[in-house]
Amino acid sequence: MKIFKIIINIFFLFCGLIKSSAQIVVKVNEPKAIIQPTMWGIFFEDINMAADGGLYAELVKNRSFEFTQPLMGWKEQNKQNGSVLIVNRNNENTANPRFARVSVKTNEPYGLTNEGFRGMGIKKNNGYDFSVWAKLNEGEKSVIHAQLITSKNEIAGEAKIIVEGNSWKKYAVSFNSSVTDEKAKLNVWFEGKSVVDVDMISLFPKDTWKNRSGGLRADLVQKLADLKPGFIRFPGGCIVEGRDLANRYQWKKTVGNIEDRQLIINRWNTEFSYRSTPDYFQSFGLGFFEYFQLAEDIGAEPLPIINCGMACQFNSAEVVATNELDGYIQDALDLIEFANGSTETKWGKLRATMGHPQPFNLKMLGVGNENWGPQYIERLTLFTKAIKAKYPAIKLVNSSGTDPIGERFDYLNGELRKINADLIDEHYYRPPEWFLANAKRYDNYPRNGSKVFAGEYAAHSNLTNDADKKNNWQSALAEAAFMTGLERNADVVSMASYAPLFAHIDAWQWAPDLIWFNNLQSYASPNYYVQQMYSLNKGTTEVSVTNNGDVVAGQDSLYAAASIDSSTNELIIKIVNTSVKQQIISLSLEGVKKITGRAKIIELKSDNLNSVNSFSQPEKIAPKESEIFIHEPKFNLPINAYSFIVLKIKM
Ligand code: AHR
Repeated sequence: MKIFKIIINIFFLFCGLIKSSAQIVVKVNEPKAIIQPTMWGIFFEDINMAADGGLYAELVKNRSFEFTQPLMGWKEQNKQNGSVLIVNRNNENTANPRFARVSVKTNEPYGLTNEGFRGMGIKKNNGYDFSVWAKLNEGEKSVIHAQLITSKNEIAGEAKIIVEGNSWKKYAVSFNSSVTDEKAKLNVWFEGKSVVDVDMISLFPKDTWKNRSGGLRADLVQKLADLKPGFIRFPGGCIVEGRDLANRYQWKKTVGNIEDRQLIINRWNTEFSYRSTPDYFQSFGLGFFEYFQLAEDIGAEPLPIINCGMACQFNSAEVVATNELDGYIQDALDLIEFANGSTETKWGKLRATMGHPQPFNLKMLGVGNENWGPQYIERLTLFTKAIKAKYPAIKLVNSSGTDPIGERFDYLNGELRKINADLIDEHYYRPPEWFLANAKRYDNYPRNGSKVFAGEYAAHSNLTNDADKKNNWQSALAEAAFMTGLERNADVVSMASYAPLFAHIDAWQWAPDLIWFNNLQSYASPNYYVQQMYSLNKGTTEVSVTNNGDVVAGQDSLYAAASIDSSTNELIIKIVNTSVKQQIISLSLEGVKKITGRAKIIELKSDNLNSVNSFSQPEKIAPKESEIFIHEPKFNLPINAYSFIVLKIKM
C-alpha cells in the first residue's frame, strides 16, 4: 500500500497532473528582509538540573558542604571508627565558610559517601580526576582513599592521596573506571588515626567538552553545537531575578577561583511543591567565564541577562530602592568590561587571569528577565542611561513581562517602543493551537523602531499538569508552523529561542524542554529538530511566499516561509502541513526562468501527534533527507500529513 502511494506521488510529481488546492508562489527575485545571523539561538537556564548535575560535569553533590543541610548528599560510613563535624569560618572565608572536620579514632577507616546528582554517571575505561582541599589538624598524616562504587556495590576505580601539613592545600589524583554505570557513587575513606579538615571534594570525568579539566559534559555541549545557534542567552530566566534579591544571580560571585564562588540556593529548589527538589543549589562552577567560553566554542553570540534590581514578581516582588541601584548598574558596566575590556582594566584582567586575554566581543545585554510594571521602566531607564553613556554600541534587551498579550504586555510594549528599545523580549508558553493561530502575529507589527526577541517560547500540550506537558509531535509541529511567521517577519524579529533548554529525567521541575538527559545519555526532542532545521537552513534574505495571494499561515493547514542563502546560492523553502492528510501542492518559483536539477528535501514527520522521542527511541522523530528532480520553475510537491519540510534548491 505504502509503495503504491509512493509510486502515485512520484507520478503526480513528475507529470504535474493533479490539481493542487494550494497554489504556492515563491518570488525568488523579490528579496525582502535580511535574516539576522542571530535569528535562531538558545536559552540556557539552570532549571531542571541543567547546570549542576547536568552541563557542569562535577559528579559530587554538595562538594563544599554549603547546602542548607551541610551533609545533604553525604552519608557516613563506619561511624564506630570516627565522626564528622561541620565547621564554619565565616569571618575568614565568607564565600565558602564551611568545611568538614573528620576525626578518625581507630586504625580502621571512617568514610563519607557521596550520592551524586541522582547517582553518578561513570564510563568504562574513562579517566576520573579526584581532588580535595585538605589540611591536617591532628596526627602525622591522613590517607584519603577515593573509591568509585557501582550501583551493584562493586569497586569501579580507586586511588589514594596522603595529607600532610597543617595548611590548606589542594590534593589531586586520577584513576580509571572499569565499569559503565548510570547510578554510581563515591566513597571517600579516611584512613589512619588523625583529625583532618576537608573541603571542595570533587570528582570530574576526564572526557569533558574539549577535555577541559573541571569542564562541561561533552555530549550535552555537542547537542548545543549541533544546533549552530546564533546566540546563547544565559543564565536565565527567573534565576536571574531570584525569589528574593538576596538570592538573585550576581555574576561577580560566579567568576574567579572555583573554591571562592559562593553557593546559593537554586530558586527552582522550592518553586513547585509537586516537583520539589530540596537538593538543588547553584555551585556556580558553570559561571559567567564558562558561559562566555561556551558561547565562543559553539560560535554563538553571548547574551547575558542581568538583574535589574527586581526579584521575581511571582515570589517576593522585592525591588531595590532606586537611590540604591548604583551597585546593580555598576555590575552591568563591569560585566561589559569583563567581557570586552582590555587586560589593563580590573575586570578585563580577571578574564585574562582566567585564561582568556582576548575579549569575548559582547554585543548585547539583557536588563531584567520577566519584569513588569512601572517599577521596571523606572529601573530600566536608569540602567539604559548609564550603559548607553559608556557603551553606546551595546544593544539592550528589555522585558515585556511574562505574557504575549494582556495589560502588562500592552503597557510595557507601549513604554518600550516610546523609548525606542533596541530589542523587546517576548515570552509565550501556550497551547499548540495558540501557536497555529498566531503564525501571523508579527505581520502587522511596526516595521521600524524596536526589534523583537522571541526570548522564551514553547508549545505546551497540556496546560494543567506539568507531567503531561510532553515534547510531543503536536507541540513541535505547532512551533514549526509558528516559526514560519518569525522568519517571514525577519525585519521585525531578530532573535528567537525555545525554552527551557535542558532537563534531567530524574530531577526536572518544568516541562516541556528541548533536550532530555540522564547521567550518561541525552536525547533531542522533536522540538529540538524543528529548531535545528530552522537554524541550519536559515538563509540570509527572506523572500515572499504566498498561497493564492495571501501569506501562507494556516489556509489549507499549510504554513510556509522562504529565503535565499547568498553564500550557498540556494533557495530554501520551509513548509508545514498540520493536516491529517497528505497534500499535493503546486509550487511556482517566480523570477526563475529555467531550473533543472536535484533538490534536497529534509523532512520531519510523524503520523501520530502524540509521538515523542525517548532514551530507547531517541530518533523516532528525526529529520530524514531525500532528493527530488526539478525540471521547471512550476511543479507539484506532495507534503505529507503532519510534516515539516525544508526544500533546498540550488539556484
Ligand atoms: O523557562 C522557564 C521559566 O519560564 C523562565 O525561568 C522564566 O523566564 C519563564 O517564566
